[in-house]
Amino acid sequence: MKSFFVLTLFPEMIEGTLSHSITGRAIKEGIINVEAVNIRDFTMDKHRHVDDYPYGGGAGMVMQPQPIYDAYKSIADKAGKARVLYMSPQGRRFDQKMAEELSKEDSLILLCGHYEGVDERVIEEIVTDEVSIGDFVLTGGELAAITIIDTVSRLVPGVLNKEESYENESFSDGLLEYPQYTRPPEFMGRKVPDILLSGHHANIDKWRREQSIIRTYQKRPDLLEGAELTDKEKKFLNTLKRNDEEK
Ligand code: ADE
Repeated sequence: MKSFFVLTLFPEMIEGTLSHSITGRAIKEGIINVEAVNIRDFTMDKHRHVDDYPYGGGAGMVMQPQPIYDAYKSIADKAGKARVLYMSPQGRRFDQKMAEELSKEDSLILLCGHYEGVDERVIEEIVTDEVSIGDFVLTGGELAAITIIDTVSRLVPGVLNKEESYENESFSDGLLEYPQYTRPPEFMGRKVPDILLSGHHANIDKWRREQSIIRTYQKRPDLLEGAELTDKEKKFLNTLKRNDEEK
């Protein structure tokens, strides 16, 4: 069982989103467990405030440390020695490799900030990893937490069924996925490549592999450095490069 605990001011965002589709099925089947903990339930303030003005002045509000710490404490034992991921644009960039690393953990705690930020002392006290989903700024950490939970969940054994397998998907071997086609055989004058209708599986595999290399070269050449290619495939890539240079 893989448990995700999310410390948030907007538990409905987390539960509402992840209760659909593949993650929703995995939750129903008990393969993963997502628990959103409402930080506001732990405020001691009579108006249920969870934020205050920043010391030193400046715009915006800062989330206070005590409600976050108490929300964390409420699940810390249940979560075991789980890593605490703070969603922040200042964090380490999330990618498929980090998702694979995180999928090996039994439980994860994800802390979502809002407003201008979170009091630094609670970050120092409980956070083990600061994680960003990209070089842009969200209004809060919830969409980042949902993104991470979705990506990590589908790597947990049993979450995807055979048809949804991730054997040949983008990034699995450092390459982008090959193009896919289904019926009809012709659409708006565009035909499905003959080879896919040939029934010759070895040729189809070879063609798909080449398409992956072509696509990665055209769309994300930066990925090629880390890609796992055979000597033959390296030669194929070099031919692509040479053809381009001759143009
Ligand atoms: N919170 C705000 N922006 C974020 C980002 N890019 N990644 C993770 N958490 C965030």
